[in-house]
Amino acid sequence: MCGIVGYIGRERAGSIMLDGLKRLEYRGYDSSGMVVNAGKGLELIKRTGRVKELEDALDELQLGGNLGISHTRWATHGDVTEANAHPHQSTDGKIYLVHNGVIENYIGMKNFLIEKGYSFKSETDSEALCNLIAYHYGKEEETTAKNRFLEAVRKSLRHVEGTYGIAVICDDYPDELIGARKGSPLIIGIGKGENILASDVNAITHCTQNVVYLNDNEVVHLTNNDFSISTVSSKSVEAVIHQVDWDTSEAELGDYDHYMLKEIHEQPNALKNGMRGRFSDDKSTAVFGGLNLNPQELRQIDRILFIACGTAWHACLIAEYLIERFARIPVEVEYASEFRYRNAPLDKNTLVIAISQSGETIDTLGALREAKRKGYRTLSINNSVGSTIARECDGGIYQHAGPEIGVASTKAFTSQLLICGMLALYLGRLRDLSYGDGVDIVKAFKELPELVQEALKQTAQIEAIAKKYAKYEDCLFLGRQLMFPIALEGALKLKEISYIHAEGYPAAEMKHGPIALISEDCPSVFLATSGEIFHKSLANVQEVKARKGKVICIATADCEIPDGLVDDIILVPECHEIVKPILMSIPVQLLSYYVALERECDVDKPRNLAKSVTVE
Ligand code: F6R
Repeated sequence: MCGIVGYIGRERAGSIMLDGLKRLEYRGYDSSGMVVNAGKGLELIKRTGRVKELEDALDELQLGGNLGISHTRWATHGDVTEANAHPHQSTDGKIYLVHNGVIENYIGMKNFLIEKGYSFKSETDSEALCNLIAYHYGKEEETTAKNRFLEAVRKSLRHVEGTYGIAVICDDYPDELIGARKGSPLIIGIGKGENILASDVNAITHCTQNVVYLNDNEVVHLTNNDFSISTVSSKSVEAVIHQVDWDTSEAELGDYDHYMLKEIHEQPNALKNGMRGRFSDDKSTAVFGGLNLNPQELRQIDRILFIACGTAWHACLIAEYLIERFARIPVEVEYASEFRYRNAPLDKNTLVIAISQSGETIDTLGALREAKRKGYRTLSINNSVGSTIARECDGGIYQHAGPEIGVASTKAFTSQLLICGMLALYLGRLRDLSYGDGVDIVKAFKELPELVQEALKQTAQIEAIAKKYAKYEDCLFLGRQLMFPIALEGALKLKEISYIHAEGYPAAEMKHGPIALISEDCPSVFLATSGEIFHKSLANVQEVKARKGKVICIATADCEIPDGLVDDIILVPECHEIVKPILMSIPVQLLSYYVALERECDVDKPRNLAKSVTVE
């Protein structure tokens, strides 16, 4: 959350940073700003609202300049105002800073600085760090001019408790840009005669494919032709340059109205990419290159703990069902934010797996580090090559779903379900799952992209149903077994983009409380698939109908639903159990999308949210 772009080079910093901010807008969109070295000094400009507001203001100003820092904000401390928007400027006017993260000890810092005569224009924690750098810069007069700015940044960071990704410039150093990170992501794009700092790769691929991932407690000093990295305690660090293999057109909206709709329709391809080269027909199993655990080690694992947040946490719940069912390994699922501080006893043969689309979610990263600190083997399933979580795990599986820009996760979720299913197959085949069962499952995965394409053909019908139900303010999503996590996901999707109050429940749990909510004004979405408990699900539908509740039933085509029992039916193709959660997710996503559209909500940028949550 919060996007940072800094530029130093030969091009117009303003337009390069603006381009970057637009690509990072999904990280935060309540206000934005930039400061540019525009020839006659540093020019600061901030606007509340979307990056478009900043763009309009910049169009009028036509700022030149080849150095600058910029920011798109997701508020943590202080309201959405221009004063609280970044960049912040120090009291003496010399230092400018943009920050992503939370400075936990900012109150003490601020009081100290007020005593020293510094004043504050904003309510943010970030301004305290900006003034602290100015304070150390002022005290560094004795140091050689060459290192004075850099030394002031490093000294200040040694006092910070909390997290930061920062970009800083100084009025006295028109040819230098400094960045640093601890807990919040920051990458360096290395160009020819230009260098860029950004919160993620998405913001720099229009300029360069060469990337250095900054690690925690590292500070980078950039000029247009050079860069050097040191630690906060001034030890020099050798940089490793990675090539990002990223097709920039993948992150473009194209002919779609919203990224969410585009990403829903990209699912057949995302799934194909997640499977590519990952099956052995011969052994009827999945094959993963980066687990860094051999079959013997994997056979010794007697428990798996999954950690994640939000939608990725729902993917973990599906992993629990699938791995227990097909590999017979006990699985537990924890919210990363809870696990981190809970001190749960784990067995020494426990494998910890983090699922994260962005690979930067701070709660998941914190939980992962806690597991590593205790000595557990860790793996990750994530969609962002080179992300912090991917780099810090002992091994992992990349989703290869392509960039996900819409704040509401869609294709990343189904690709997580795919990887979890494939992992269940792989672990199963290392244990008791038979060759024949493996053959059926591999076949089911290979047929899946076609079936998803089929399910997407229901779009017009789902749009019509969405129009009917968009007026309600409450909704229940109900499902049993594998459909329970999909019910949770359906409720999350609906509430986050359409602001309808929605809850997901195991269908049978409904009668233990939530049934009290059922009325003509509270419809239910039932998720029913064929199998031994299908008739139990139907009984739960009857219970709702008996209380005048409206029912939308999403089901696999082989379910026999009595005529007239439900108000609306959406059918997805009949399929193998292991891929049912993926296929059943498609109508759930489309339903939320069209309900939100009908309610005229900003689908890609829902209120109060941001993608990639890098604060606790
Ligand atoms: C909801 C959504 C979030 C994320 C959660 C974790 O649509 O996208 O709930 O799933 O913030 O994000 P990652 O997967 O990046 O760790």
